[in-house]
Amino acid sequence: MQPRGTIRAALLAMAALATGPARASGPPMGWNSWNHYGDKIRDADIRHAADALLSSGMAAAGYRTVIIDDGWQGQRDAQGNLQPDPSRFPDMKALADYIHGRGLRFGLYSSPGARTCAGRPGSEGHEAQDARRFAAWGVDYLKYDLCGFRRHLAGQDLDRQRAMMIDAYRRMGTALDATGRTVILALCSYGWSRVWEWAASTGGTIWRTTTDITPDYAAMMFNALSDQAIPDPPPGHWNDPDMLEIGNGDLTAPGAERTHLTLWVMLAAPLIAGNDLSAMTPETRAILTNRDVIAIDQDVSSHPGHLVSWNGAVQIWLRHLADGGTAIALVNTLDHAIDTTPGTALRATMTERSARELWTGRETGPLTPHTRFTIPARDVILLRLEGPSR
Ligand code: GLA
Repeated sequence: MQPRGTIRAALLAMAALATGPARASGPPMGWNSWNHYGDKIRDADIRHAADALLSSGMAAAGYRTVIIDDGWQGQRDAQGNLQPDPSRFPDMKALADYIHGRGLRFGLYSSPGARTCAGRPGSEGHEAQDARRFAAWGVDYLKYDLCGFRRHLAGQDLDRQRAMMIDAYRRMGTALDATGRTVILALCSYGWSRVWEWAASTGGTIWRTTTDITPDYAAMMFNALSDQAIPDPPPGHWNDPDMLEIGNGDLTAPGAERTHLTLWVMLAAPLIAGNDLSAMTPETRAILTNRDVIAIDQDVSSHPGHLVSWNGAVQIWLRHLADGGTAIALVNTLDHAIDTTPGTALRATMTERSARELWTGRETGPLTPHTRFTIPARDVILLRLEGPSR
């Protein structure tokens, strides 16, 4: 007789062949409803988003998980089964089938608390029941947001808070595992209690490292800088500085949009778009779908890059890639163009190596620390240096 684990692994492998593996080999990529819709979402919005991912080329570029954030939940029935809000989501299974039928994956949102941030029912006390329901609907990805659970933490000391959070997330991780379906568990606890130290042990694949992003340059930069100070995650797991705001609010200037995506790919962050896909400009679409830039994010080394210098105007970020290459980002944080060099800090990495500028496709020829680059206001130059450093 085969051990249970072997049978389960074989079943999971068969399921993966049928629907495509749910567990990503690089940081997860997709689209989430929150940043554009907030909690005012309906079935039709999600179907349109799924269609637009395909028609825009976003899905082909890798954005293949459609995630419904807060706002979908209705009430529990007499048996405790969580129902979708019938006025917004009349048939969740049919919606999941629609998404899967387009070759996309389906993500949903819940909370370890009794209530979500938007005041809708969370999963507290119903973890196993909800996990089974999510699996039956065909959920491939669950964003699990601390929210209502926070009230239990008040007045507890830090060690106790941490133990309570670990327990709360482990309850859902274990419940999802017990369903036999591969579901990516995305922890959303804003970096609290050094979540990166314990999230993987609860079954988490990604974990938020920061406070909520908002659609402006300062918030985007704050989250990137916070995330880069956090230790590298174990292989197959990723720190999450929150979803993309590209195309939203004040983040619609192409230079700022390029900067946002560049920082996220340097950080090996999940790329979860959050813009209105039906109103996306051609520039935003081209930025979000730049294959060379996305390839840095999805690099199999999965080691995030870091900020290596910042002279007050220009930041230099560095990321080592699996093929021995190096990604270097020169970020102009000022609101006027600036002329700069990579500087001596990178002499060993850069000397005499050729590079390509990934946002323009331009080959640079052999680089030295004195090679000059002009970076427009609040824009970025992203270089990919091939081959090992000398
Ligand atoms: C929190 C999360 C957000 C979003 C909202 C939904 O603020 O951090 O990403 O999910 O809750 O209410």
